[in-house]
Amino acid sequence: MSAIFSKLTSEHIKVLSTLCKHASTHKEILDKHSHDETEDLRFLPSIVLKPESTDEVSKIMAYASAHNIPVTPQGARTGLSGGALPVMGGIALSLERMNNIVQLDEQNLQAIVEPGVITQELQEFVEQKGLFYPPDPSSKGSCFIGGNVAENAGGPRALKYGVTKDYVLNLEVVLADGKVIWTGANTLKNSTGYNLTQLMIGSEGTLGVVTKIVLKLIPRPKTDVLMLVPFKSAEKACQAVSAVFRAGIVPCALEFMERDAIDYTLKYYPDIASIDIDDDTKAHLLISLDGNHASVLQEESEQLYDLLQAFDCGEIAFADSQAQKDSLWAMRRKVGEAVKTHSIYKEEDTVVPRYELPKLLSGVKKIGAKYGFKSVCYGHAGDGNLHINILKGALNDEDWSKTVTKGVEEIFQLTINLGGTLSGEHGIGWVQKGYMPIAFDQRTLDLMKSIKYIFDAKGILNPSKIFPST
Ligand code: LAC
Ligand code: ZN
Repeated sequence: MSAIFSKLTSEHIKVLSTLCKHASTHKEILDKHSHDETEDLRFLPSIVLKPESTDEVSKIMAYASAHNIPVTPQGARTGLSGGALPVMGGIALSLERMNNIVQLDEQNLQAIVEPGVITQELQEFVEQKGLFYPPDPSSKGSCFIGGNVAENAGGPRALKYGVTKDYVLNLEVVLADGKVIWTGANTLKNSTGYNLTQLMIGSEGTLGVVTKIVLKLIPRPKTDVLMLVPFKSAEKACQAVSAVFRAGIVPCALEFMERDAIDYTLKYYPDIASIDIDDDTKAHLLISLDGNHASVLQEESEQLYDLLQAFDCGEIAFADSQAQKDSLWAMRRKVGEAVKTHSIYKEEDTVVPRYELPKLLSGVKKIGAKYGFKSVCYGHAGDGNLHINILKGALNDEDWSKTVTKGVEEIFQLTINLGGTLSGEHGIGWVQKGYMPIAFDQRTLDLMKSIKYIFDAKGILNPSKIFPST
């Protein structure tokens, strides 16, 4: 089923501007909302609306639905799969003005927030009260909780604490026709009917517009240790990852960075961290342990130290101040941006069962050699989640668009063969949708599509996303 959308008329624009106080058709605003952080893709909306309340969202959706106008919900537009791109034009519905922390319930360890709250601001707010909201995507300083819900964002701490979906208890959602629902209850357990809360999470704005989010919080761990471990072989670094868990240690984060990932980051952000890297170092693991007892972390660090020697690691550097920890984390978080600065690129967000990671990495390099592209790999190794950045470098446009597409297909096929899937935390959005048949058979895709059209019969919500033939 594919929808026929109305082109926005001056009458539509006039009415929408009365339904939403902050409406704009200025060129700079349309430009700003034509892109997220995905490659260099741009799609102009016809109007940008920035509602301030659920009621405004509801009125906008009712009107858009009645007039077949496509609506693309947008958070901070930091996404990497093109989920927030208004590919069919129409309305870019930016939730940036709905940015209140509505309630912090310290009795139940819960927070109710609007979708435009910046993830790090929520984290800092609850940390003042000794509480913890763990999901920490690299863009946490600018991304919104609403976008995190839409893409089911993760980040390094997902390893021990889980991803966004593990912290969402209940959602207020404006449906495509403007009706407002709550998906669940503000309880830690819930076996009452279908789980619409979890269905909504990761649905990339294709099923409804999330306008309030009830989050679970946990007590903040009191202490942590951070170590940077160099390896002479990237595959050995990957092999060490599963050994850590088999030894009974669950780090808070276990990140992998190929040599180029760090080199590019230090090249484009030279002041971010100061580390000496031996010429023969090919990769690093950045490992964080956290908990409430420094003595336990000390014991685990020593155990880790011994274990990692078996994988031919170099000298392990322990961060000995908060400033050092901050700079190592800042360096890790900047890798994606640095690679992007270095070259036109395509980013894949592959995820495999943890033990298969070395096979994924070596397979990616072989595929790169076959098709003639260079890749820079990094990511959440403890979760088996490898970000593969394919660089255009000196490839001509023809090879870049055709040959590399075949290479990416092979990478995804390898990922599936290893028991993994296409995206661990960035979503499918616009750029990965063509690969969905590699992950799912037609019957499963049809089931998913039927769900989409039950929620959004006219297909106006974030059209042309997730499904290959839409
Ligand atoms: C990261 C983003 C790209 O891990 O997911 O840095
Ligand atoms: Zn990531």
